[in-house]
Amino acid sequence: MNAPIKQHLIDPEICIRCNTCEETCPVDAITHDANNYVVDVSKCNLCLNCIPPCPTGSIDNWRIVTSAYSLDDQYSWMELPAQEQIVVAGHNEAIDDDVQALIDSAHKGVGGKSVAPASAAKPSVNLFNREKPIVATVTGNYRLTHEDSDVDVHHIILDFGDTAFPVLEGQSIGIVAPGVDADGKPHRVRLYSIASPRHGERPNHNNLALTVKREPQGVCSNYVCDLKKGDKIEVTGPFGATFLMPNDPAANIIMICTGTGSAPFRAFTEWRRRSAPNAPGRMLLFFGARRPSDLPYFGPLQKVPNSLLGKHFAYSRIPGEKKVYVQDLMRVEQEELSRLLKSDMTHIYVCGLKGMEQGVDSALDDICRSVELKWHDMRDAMRAQGRYHVETY
Ligand code: A2P
Repeated sequence: MNAPIKQHLIDPEICIRCNTCEETCPVDAITHDANNYVVDVSKCNLCLNCIPPCPTGSIDNWRIVTSAYSLDDQYSWMELPAQEQIVVAGHNEAIDDDVQALIDSAHKGVGGKSVAPASAAKPSVNLFNREKPIVATVTGNYRLTHEDSDVDVHHIILDFGDTAFPVLEGQSIGIVAPGVDADGKPHRVRLYSIASPRHGERPNHNNLALTVKREPQGVCSNYVCDLKKGDKIEVTGPFGATFLMPNDPAANIIMICTGTGSAPFRAFTEWRRRSAPNAPGRMLLFFGARRPSDLPYFGPLQKVPNSLLGKHFAYSRIPGEKKVYVQDLMRVEQEELSRLLKSDMTHIYVCGLKGMEQGVDSALDDICRSVELKWHDMRDAMRAQGRYHVETY
């Protein structure tokens, strides 16, 4: 039998086919067909250059194998195969400690392996790609931030006509701006979180909404924010199989975000409001922005009743006032949060600026310590149970 090796693989359920890894790989080990991006084990030297630029983390997957998966195997996958059981010759135990350590490190990935909540619906992924996009019609484009704000965030509504494009709250879509970049290459796919519930921005319509912030040098964000009603736009996806909403109405959902990180939480809140307004599960939102005028959905959020959604807004740049971040408000709400954290019906979602991750983690650590819970043990268990999700950028 061959000695086990660590094989680099790409998760087809999460990959958005943006081509970044193929462009980055210095040894041309990454290639693709119309279905999947794959890694040639005979060329990959595990240099890891492709890991940081990947926008989704789909690149960071590993299996310990005694017989490597071929390119054809990988082209045919809809999802990654489970880690095979490895029996090392000459040992009675099923697996050797060294090999187990290799497998543990392979499973961990950069941020730890996340899974979907147990009660989430099964998502459809990768129905459309760059080669075969779906064409949507823009049916709305509204500015979400106050006219005095220099943060320009838009609510964009896309309609898919007669072509099925099933999505779930928490999933994203890809958009490619037309034209080419300075090197003459097509622009990269940009990912945007869906801000509307599964049955449409308008109930029972084949449409969805996005929350897009105009970035000064952003090719795609400027393209999207300038779209007019009636424009046609090419869309890929849907993407995302883990950052999903639990279907169970008894699930408590704690949502922590900054800026456009609020998009999936608008989708979660709208779905709960429309499908189970009297659900026993608690929903809590911690939302950080510079000022109220910069906070997307500020007006509509005020109208969501507190019984459905507990809202806590943290403002960092109100003149004459102390800077407040989401993690500060979480500490203020320690009592309710610690009560929720004791329940195995509670799910936590963090979405937005990467910088907030650390602060949120320490706030949860302090809150747990106050009621003699161990946050870091809980966090690992919650992640493995699909109850802890982080999507930051
Ligand atoms: P700040 O005013 O200190 O930049 P942005 O408008 O840049 O998208 O940011 C959204 C909000 O997130 C702002 O209020 C910003 O505050 C805040 N923020 C920045 N860094 C952190 C952090 N490390 N933890 C929590 N919130 C943060």
